[in-house]
Amino acid sequence: MSINSINLIYLASATLFMLGIKYLSSPSTAKRGNFLSMIGMGAAIGITLTTPGLHGFTLITIGIIIGTVIGGYAAIKVKMTSMPEMVALFNGCGGAASALVAMAEFRVLGTEFDSFTLITLLLSMIIGGLTFTGSLMAYAKLQGLISTRPITYPGQQLINGAILLATLALAVLLFQDPGNMLVFSGILILSLLLGVLAVIPIGGADMPVIICLLNSYSGLAVSMTGFALNNNALIITGSLVGASGIFLTKIMCDAMNRSLANVLFSAFGQVVESADDTGEGPAGTMKGFELEDVATILANAGTLIIVPGYGMAAAQAQHATRDLGDYLGEQGVEVRYAIHPVAGRMPGHMNVLLAEADVPYDQLFALEDINDDFASTDVVLVIGANDVVNPAAKDNPSSPIYGMPVLDVEKATTVIVLKRSMSVGFAGIDNELFYKDNTMMLFGDAKSSLQKLVAAMKQ
Ligand code: TAP
Repeated sequence: MSINSINLIYLASATLFMLGIKYLSSPSTAKRGNFLSMIGMGAAIGITLTTPGLHGFTLITIGIIIGTVIGGYAAIKVKMTSMPEMVALFNGCGGAASALVAMAEFRVLGTEFDSFTLITLLLSMIIGGLTFTGSLMAYAKLQGLISTRPITYPGQQLINGAILLATLALAVLLFQDPGNMLVFSGILILSLLLGVLAVIPIGGADMPVIICLLNSYSGLAVSMTGFALNNNALIITGSLVGASGIFLTKIMCDAMNRSLANVLFSAFGQVVESADDTGEGPAGTMKGFELEDVATILANAGTLIIVPGYGMAAAQAQHATRDLGDYLGEQGVEVRYAIHPVAGRMPGHMNVLLAEADVPYDQLFALEDINDDFASTDVVLVIGANDVVNPAAKDNPSSPIYGMPVLDVEKATTVIVLKRSMSVGFAGIDNELFYKDNTMMLFGDAKSSLQKLVAAMKQ
């Protein structure tokens, strides 16, 4: 196959990837998006195998078989709740692959480099190396293999900065002595170390943001490998991953009203004193209610908005949530779901869980589409959400979440909150919603409370 024909197929693959990403933006078209991307990837791999002069087909076939078996097994077995861990591992594999290709090229080329190839190979190895170890650290934090708390020590940022400078200094040295394996190995070791040290000060709950960022890095590394190998498919695909990863990182940071620097360097998630500890809890009285009272309010509602949060995911209460929504819908209640962009712990967390429980897509509303409707709603049922319904984001400038867009649930006639205790959420702060006159607290595990509520209403 001629190089022109190969590049034409690469272009077709890239178009399929872009269409795939577009379709992935809505749950109703996500399967189609996945399918188109799969075809694009299959075509790109297939056509690469026809590249003139390619050899080593036995090794390539073994690699493809091993990769297919591991990828297929992981895709079938992994639970929806473990998706961030799987993405972290796959990002790590992307980074490692780029670094390995760069190392192989470095060996093959010996000292025969032009400056452009050397720069792209170095970037591919440095970004790929730190993406690999950074992703492994993110995986270990999410799996609880290492402490999910930020690991900090004096002079941490200075040390990280010094390692980055040392890596760049070695890279400059390599320009003067291109074949020097010792310098090359030093760069690799420092890149791997940087990945570990950059991720340990970040709290476990911020890992989804870091995984998106590492996803973007893995794309950049692939793109650099593409420039070094002069392969258009790698350049385009890497750029797509790099750009979409950085956009997703930005969207998540904006939705939390935090800068990327704050996520990277603030060690968010440290044990902090809550307002209660300082004796300055929110004004008002918290009112715990009996299950029967809550069931009566729900059964008599005309309009209901359900607000799921991290607690629904932790309790695996998505099916019980759907059962309650379905039951009340059958009784003539208008039921809708309000989805905050960073509810839970990963992008689209609530959408994924509610889709798994077969909640109809047309009942799901994004923050900006439903926030004006709370004032005219009879009952809001908050299921394990805390920060995303905290009014402090609107009226307390000293709050760490001040400025984050939140759901205006307190404007409804009655707000019912299902959680186990008065514990804080991810941001570690008290929530004055729980003390408001129109709020009813029902304590208990969300799944068990929902099941009991449905049973009580059916009696
Ligand atoms: P959170 O503010 O984290 O609150 C979750 C609440 O769920 C807790 O207060 C907890 O209270 C309750 N809970 C836990 N297990 C429960 C169970 N089994 N049954 C009932 N309740 C349970 O959650 P949110 O409102 O969804 O906000 C998400 C937070 O995570 C935001 O601050 C966001 O910025 C952050 N974050 C999100 C993402 C993404 S991409 N979604 C990424 C990183 C960080 P009890 O312990 O009293 O039950």
